[in-house]
Amino acid sequence: MSQIKRAAYLLKQSKFAVCFTGAGISVESGVPSFRGEDGLWEKYDQSLFEIDYFYKHPEKSWALINRIFFEVLKDKKPNKAHYALAKLEELGYMKAIITQNIDNLHYLAGSKNIIEYHGNSRMLVCGKCAKKFNASDFDLSSIPLCPDCKFPLKPDFVFFGEMIPKVAQEKSEELMRQCDLLIVIGTSGLVYPAAFLPMLAHKSGAKIIEINKTFTEYTDKIVDVFLEGSASEILKEILIELDAN
Ligand code: APR
Repeated sequence: MSQIKRAAYLLKQSKFAVCFTGAGISVESGVPSFRGEDGLWEKYDQSLFEIDYFYKHPEKSWALINRIFFEVLKDKKPNKAHYALAKLEELGYMKAIITQNIDNLHYLAGSKNIIEYHGNSRMLVCGKCAKKFNASDFDLSSIPLCPDCKFPLKPDFVFFGEMIPKVAQEKSEELMRQCDLLIVIGTSGLVYPAAFLPMLAHKSGAKIIEINKTFTEYTDKIVDVFLEGSASEILKEILIELDAN
């Protein structure tokens, strides 16, 4: 049986399938991944994205964040892979998506049950009073200040050195225990605690399908069906296979 057919069979058999995505699913939307060729961390030192650095050098840190996140993301659109996952949810095959991405593309593709494990770039949050604001309400060319307490606002995504949002972490771990099938798409599986989630699903007895252009930390440890290639191509073939049967 082909790997695509096996993946479609597992999806049809599953009672509670969940998806876990990383930067690779957004590469075809023109959003650079973090590692590998053209990866962001090949160009920028990760220490510039630590929370301590942000509060020590807010203006400098903000200029960089605006340039490589807000400026890059503002015109990006979901690609066929994001829409395919929204379709799988609509057809009842997919119960939830846990994404490490902050690019809002699952949200824009129409997926409903999304857990943004590293937060998102739609909102800004005040480091002093914790109030949240829409990023689109501010001129992001200079560091925005909290309208109430004039403290610098930060993007509502997780910086290195920050905790994962408690609700996102708890809901994600619960889904990993609950799912009987996990589809892991476009992640190198190198950054914890997010990278621990597929391990937890495997430990809880879920079957694991991995879609990636290359082998990863997961492939020969916990994966049942490895589908090598681009997320949009592979998900298209799985949808065709599901439709065909
Ligand atoms: N289709 C499928 N997979 C792809 C594609 C594609 N078109 N393009 C790239 N990939 C794969 C790469 O082979 C790689 O395994 O996507 C993965 C991207 O890995 P990373 O850049 O490390 O992204 P990710 O795993 O999401 O990083 C995790 O690290 O820096 C932090 O907070 C950041 O959330 C991020 C976390």
